[in-house]
Amino acid sequence: MSQHILLLSICLKPVVLTINFAAQILHIISKSCMKKSFFFFPILFILLLFTTKLIAQNIPQLGKNSVKEVVAAMTLEEKARFVVGNGMKLPGTSSGTGIGVTDDKVAGASGTTFAIPRLGIPSIVVADGPAGLRIDSIRNNDHSKTYYATAWPVATLLASTWDTSIVKKVGVAFGNEIHNYGVDIILGPALNIHRNPLGGRNFEYYSEDPLIAGDMAAAIANGIQSNGVGTSIKHYAANNQETNRNSVNTIVSERALREIYLKGFEIAVKKSHPWTVMSSYNLINDTMASESYGLLTDVLRKDWGFKGFVMTDWFGGHNAVAQMQAGNNLLMPGTKTQTQAIIDAVNHDSLGVKILDENCESILNIVLQSPSFKQYKFNDKPDLKAHAAISKEAAEEGMVLLKNDKNTLPFTSVKNIALFGINGYDLIAGGTGSGDVNKAYKVSLYEGLKNSGYSVDADLKNTYANYIADYNTKHPKKNFFQEFMNPTPPAPEFEMDNSVITSKASAADVAVIAIGRNAGEGQDRKIENDFNLSATEEALLQNVANAFHAQNKKVIVVLNIGGVIETVSWRDKADGILLAWQPGLEGGNAIADILSGKVNPSGKLATTFPAKYEDVPSAKNFPGKEFPEKAITANLGMKLIPGEVTYEEGIYVGYRYYNTFNVKPAYEFGYGLSYSNFTFGNLKLSSSTFNKNITATLTITNQGKYAGKEVVEIYITAPSNNIDKPAEELKAFAKTKLLKPGKTQTLKFTLTAADLASFYTDKEAWIADAGKYTVKVGSSSTDIRLKASFNLPGEIAVEKVNKALTPHVDINELKSLPAKETSYINELNNFYTAGQ
Ligand code: BGC
Repeated sequence: MSQHILLLSICLKPVVLTINFAAQILHIISKSCMKKSFFFFPILFILLLFTTKLIAQNIPQLGKNSVKEVVAAMTLEEKARFVVGNGMKLPGTSSGTGIGVTDDKVAGASGTTFAIPRLGIPSIVVADGPAGLRIDSIRNNDHSKTYYATAWPVATLLASTWDTSIVKKVGVAFGNEIHNYGVDIILGPALNIHRNPLGGRNFEYYSEDPLIAGDMAAAIANGIQSNGVGTSIKHYAANNQETNRNSVNTIVSERALREIYLKGFEIAVKKSHPWTVMSSYNLINDTMASESYGLLTDVLRKDWGFKGFVMTDWFGGHNAVAQMQAGNNLLMPGTKTQTQAIIDAVNHDSLGVKILDENCESILNIVLQSPSFKQYKFNDKPDLKAHAAISKEAAEEGMVLLKNDKNTLPFTSVKNIALFGINGYDLIAGGTGSGDVNKAYKVSLYEGLKNSGYSVDADLKNTYANYIADYNTKHPKKNFFQEFMNPTPPAPEFEMDNSVITSKASAADVAVIAIGRNAGEGQDRKIENDFNLSATEEALLQNVANAFHAQNKKVIVVLNIGGVIETVSWRDKADGILLAWQPGLEGGNAIADILSGKVNPSGKLATTFPAKYEDVPSAKNFPGKEFPEKAITANLGMKLIPGEVTYEEGIYVGYRYYNTFNVKPAYEFGYGLSYSNFTFGNLKLSSSTFNKNITATLTITNQGKYAGKEVVEIYITAPSNNIDKPAEELKAFAKTKLLKPGKTQTLKFTLTAADLASFYTDKEAWIADAGKYTVKVGSSSTDIRLKASFNLPGEIAVEKVNKALTPHVDINELKSLPAKETSYINELNNFYTAGQ
């Protein structure tokens, strides 16, 4: 209580002094004016104005006074309102796509913060999302002015570029759009790990590997923030599934957390200093992420030095006071109940006002940098044309050529194309939910091929266009919230008459079949008719392959997907397979440029395509168990079923598992073809003994006929005398410049002690073990072209960190020891043969 009185007296001191001063003047003047009373009231009025101004002048102002002084001048209610967002519209009251109370600032944005004009604190605007700015494109039904944003290729595609410079370039343009539409902070990039191919939001995320995820997130964040707007890297952390996303308790070892699930965030925080971090919905080892002091303070701030503020995911967490105590500075989108809980807690001494002040300060330090604070006059007119060109360029860099039998691609003598598959005519530019973007247009593959000068079968086009139109009429789009809670399923492939296919095989030079997949927040994907092809899709592939191959004509499959699918059962039917991912609004043009050879593909997989779902190391632990009997009703009437998932695969995620346990995937991590071929040579290490760091230099030569780019992947095999180590771990990567045929480029990579270190749970430290390290230079994670070794004479304790996020139960973690290896794989097999 005494603290409150002290604070109050500091705040009121200038006011009291001013009033005192004014009162004395008033006393003198009134004495002299009493005699001429008609002067008295005007003088009193002027004096009051003067006094008010003086008082105002003495109230701390953001930007003029220190943040601490400004916070000291805030009332308890102001503080409690400031750490809670302005709320959201109720479902049904919004015709737009926004969910925050944002119409007076930027309609369709996701939320705003509380303004305190008397202290010079403006409200700032935050908006989704990871693949483009999601705001209302049409406002108040006025179509004369639009606010469309660029749909960038999704993160999974950007990661497949393996090129941080193009990703940064996307970021610079993306940030310009954010700035020019009046938004202060974008709710992205999102960088959760692709733990399982069924993850509904995998398209929003980069990779199964934390180095790629972290480097890509840092690149785009640096690009965005170079415009003077902020990012919110999300969803921190271990938020790898949508099933029971608000209530799932993720049980995971400290080592797997540090090496896999936190590592990308650590890289992004250290390399790009994001303005904000968004805490995730899930629990980690029994504590909600947004209420976890270990996660938000010990690790994020103390271990990594994060200086920005943390906001919750929308309605994340249950206990506003615990969130404040954990260092979750801002609660979004914000409810009155949260504000009241904070006020009550301070009044009842269960929340120290110092903690509340620190939360306010963290937010204010960022508000100070924001365009809203700087009163930036945004014009709502970003250069969408220039941005579309960058979106296309990035899409072309990240598409992955999976198969190219007998140089089927690029098209050399193709003029007439028979295009099959709904998504050939209806491109999936990006996924659904908050990762969606309100774009002005999207170029379908049909349009892209036409734009490239091909003749594309008009009869097929009409059939598909009519089918799509009919489906859309029967399944009208619902409002944003209804779509959000229960998305309209995409139109399924239809059965095409074989006689039609045969006639097209006679008329066209080649068949292109587009296969699409869409997903988004709120739901994970399914195995049947999603990860696996549907029976109709299989039949279409089979029939087209039969008809075209009978005429010695080729079949190309274009995968317009946001997440991994099964390919082994059908890939033999195709001569070429191009993985186009969800490529943003210019997707059709980008695909056509690759098929035609205008662009030589240079993307590589940043996520493994397993041979079958059962091979996925997390298959038997995804999405975990649920406890329907403990269901509760939460915000917006949402039913929350507590869930629990144990990450028994530990550090063996993605290629770390497939490579270590010799499980052959369909397409391995790091894989991707080019129209050229490259040779790797002259690997030299700076020393055969590690000392502070080690550099590796090597040359790449284009031996093919086409100019092209090659991705170089540097893996390390570390000594595993003490603890498990994956067979290979990615430690560095780069893409060459465009090399003309016969040209060579020298590349240099530096590895530090931190790159060699593993996390030792018992020591709470990153340690590089003494012993022999092998540097493996790969064109993929299994196609290793060059190797060299060096020795680390003595163990290096690279960094000691805080103890945090300890699981409370034993985890039966996968180990690479032979006995356990067999038992885990047997267990996986038994699980599936038992039909569970
Ligand atoms: C999503 C976040 C998003 C937020 C605001 C949540 O449902 O999980 O990724 O930024 O909504 O729209």
